Amino acid sequence: MQKIFIMTLSKRVQEIKPSPTLTLDAKAKELISKGEDIVSFGAGEPDFPTPQEAVELAKKSMDEGKTKYTAVDGIPELKSAALKRFEYFFGVKYNIDEVIITPGAKMAIYEALFSLVDEGDEVVIFSPYWVSYPDMIKMVGGVPRVIKTTPERGFKPSVSEILNNITLRTKVIILNYPSNPTGAVAEPELFEEIAYAIKDRDIIVISDEIYGTMIYDRRFESFAKFLKEKTIVIWGVSKTYAMTGWRIGIALGPEKIISAMKKVQGQTTSNPTTTAQYAALGILKEETQNFVKETTQRFKERRDLIFSLLAEIKGMRCFKPEGAFYVFPDISSFLTDSVKTSDDLSAYLLQKKKVLVIPGSGFGAEGFIRLSFALSEDKIKEGIRRIKEGLYELAEQKNGGRQS
Ligand SMILES: Cc1ncc(COP(=O)(O)O)c(C=O)c1O
Repeated sequence: MQKIFIMTLSKRVQEIKPSPTLTLDAKAKELISKGEDIVSFGAGEPDFPTPQEAVELAKKSMDEGKTKYTAVDGIPELKSAALKRFEYFFGVKYNIDEVIITPGAKMAIYEALFSLVDEGDEVVIFSPYWVSYPDMIKMVGGVPRVIKTTPERGFKPSVSEILNNITLRTKVIILNYPSNPTGAVAEPELFEEIAYAIKDRDIIVISDEIYGTMIYDRRFESFAKFLKEKTIVIWGVSKTYAMTGWRIGIALGPEKIISAMKKVQGQTTSNPTTTAQYAALGILKEETQNFVKETTQRFKERRDLIFSLLAEIKGMRCFKPEGAFYVFPDISSFLTDSVKTSDDLSAYLLQKKKVLVIPGSGFGAEGFIRLSFALSEDKIKEGIRRIKEGLYELAEQKNGGRQS
């Protein structure tokens, strides 16, 4: 008789869900590769090629045979270059024991949470949040405590809201400015107030500043400027230098936490890919940083374009992003009896208008959609035209044929 095995997956893995952004973006890429005329606003990555300086040093390192293990926390030259560059952009100085190079910023966040959170500890996050935070918190046994923010208040919390949500179990607060998905940027004054409010508590801030150089209207300061001794800053080359596929992240913070993260990395992935580290070194050591200046200007122009086009859609309410490359409009007024949720709307627009937008549900914000503007001006224009058409058709159905 054949034996039947019941393959029981762990409770933890059963509790987490696949990343909706990666799933939908993969779907759009698959349809495009089959020749479908899809305009995708799903991309979580710049559409520019990786700078040549990075590619060249990666090639050279391979030719020189630098293809073996490195130190777990990255090659010293890269750690030094990362420190220098972080200081150049954000004016905060760290020493070499206060930085770790990770396989992508995602891994840096996971390692930080793993190093800080015990079973049942609470981690404060703000909705709309980046999709991976709640699942990562659950993966390390923590409990996400979500504080809602709204476009009316610039998608930012007040200090009293934060204090009201802190309990004896609160271990970590995750801040993410510039924000994915809203593009909101916290003012230095808000960071200063938050830092002051929590400075005497046993709480660590993970400040995800992966979009920290992509700022359009206002000044941005790293949270580390205000509470360095209790902050882990998450940074990296993925977004800043169009290097998402290379998988290089950077975390900076107190030596005790960085050493703990190094231990986690040493027992899981070991060092980030050696060639990718040289690629990151190739661009981080550049003195001029023209790539960042030029691409930020391009993104600002696209932000202005997409925002003005969205503003023309009657019934759409849209917060103007101040950083990163996402816009997060409120589409709740277009929902109908058949297209009830942001997931339904995303499926409807993909099917009927061949345009991909990411539903707000995955970011803890039903009634919104996320559009990335990391695509060409022509595609932005065409994509928004399709969205407008799709939304007006829905509005027409809702009003029984009467155009609103
Ligand atoms: C807010 C935020 N943090 C972290 C990451 C992860 O970056 P990486 O690709 O370097 O792992 C992303 C990527 O989408 C992000 O949007």
